[in-house]
Amino acid sequence: MLVLGLESSCDETAAAVVEDGRRVLSDVVASQVDIHARYGGVVPELASRAHVVHIVPVMEEALARAGAKLGDLDGIAVTQGPGLVGALLVAVQAAKALAYARDLPLVGVHHLEGHLSAVYLEDEFPSSPHLALVVSGGHTSIIRVDRGGDLAELGATRDDAAGEAFDKVAKLLGLGYPGGIAIDKLASQGDPEAVPFPRAMTRRETGYEFSFSGLKTAVLNWVRENGVPEGQALADLCASFQATVVEVLVRKTRQAAAAEGLDQVQVCGGVAANSALRAELRRAGRDDGFSVYIPSPVRCTDNAAMIAAAGHARLVRGERATKELTATSSFPLPGSLP
Ligand code: KG4
Ligand code: ZN
Repeated sequence: MLVLGLESSCDETAAAVVEDGRRVLSDVVASQVDIHARYGGVVPELASRAHVVHIVPVMEEALARAGAKLGDLDGIAVTQGPGLVGALLVAVQAAKALAYARDLPLVGVHHLEGHLSAVYLEDEFPSSPHLALVVSGGHTSIIRVDRGGDLAELGATRDDAAGEAFDKVAKLLGLGYPGGIAIDKLASQGDPEAVPFPRAMTRRETGYEFSFSGLKTAVLNWVRENGVPEGQALADLCASFQATVVEVLVRKTRQAAAAEGLDQVQVCGGVAANSALRAELRRAGRDDGFSVYIPSPVRCTDNAAMIAAAGHARLVRGERATKELTATSSFPLPGSLP
């Protein structure tokens, strides 16, 4: 069964063709980084316009790379939300038009359900029940994925998402947008113990909640006092900031895995591409005896293959979107994965 996935929730226009929910035949992402970089963040109106320009070429390229024609498709899956509504609408309208013109079944997919499904495109993936650490630009949460796919959020961030913290700190340090990857690179040359930043929400009674806005302020205060560092000092600052985020994420994930009695952990979302987070979670897994599953870095950041994978499961169950399907900027995570 061939499913075309489409995604335009933020600043990537993406299309992918996935076979049987597992085999990626093509995975095309048109990034808008160049457009938004000079503003230090995503400008919603510019994002929508760029999606309009890119959606059809990206779809055509995904089909071409998969060696497939429109007539070969068995269904379409599109990110319905959450995200920027004007951005989401572009892929939603393209998907609806195609589904209508070709009489193809269509499903709307929650963006985080997509991230949670990315791991199933890898050779090795967790069975359920397992724990999922979801860390992206818009979300940070620990979710229990039960047998049958039932989802229970154990905790989330009270303020900034982990990726948002990376992006804001990068902007503060003049590292451009998006900041996660720039900080990751610099941090690999730095001393993570150079600047002792406070670890927020680490007391047991805070459960599995996170807070990253205080850390952002701590970096801001450091910069006000010391100026924006250069060279080795910049690398040290990046490494110290990154280590603080990673330590809190790993600590809470370990606590949750132990308390829930789960021996498999998956990590997904853009921040799951972070090299320190990947390494530290793998180390924690070895120490505590849980297996760690992390998609390859290109499947951690936004892509449409993960949307096709999630949509495939829904299509197989017979779900169909009606022609009323529309973009939903705030869209609660469904209670279960199909
Ligand atoms: O999942 P994603 O592509 O989009 C959302 O759903 O938000 O995540 C994007 C976030 C951005 O904040 C970006 O800075 C962060 O993921 N990110 C990283 C890395 N690569 C992307 N953060 C830390 N280290 C990275 N290597
Ligand atoms: Zn995402």
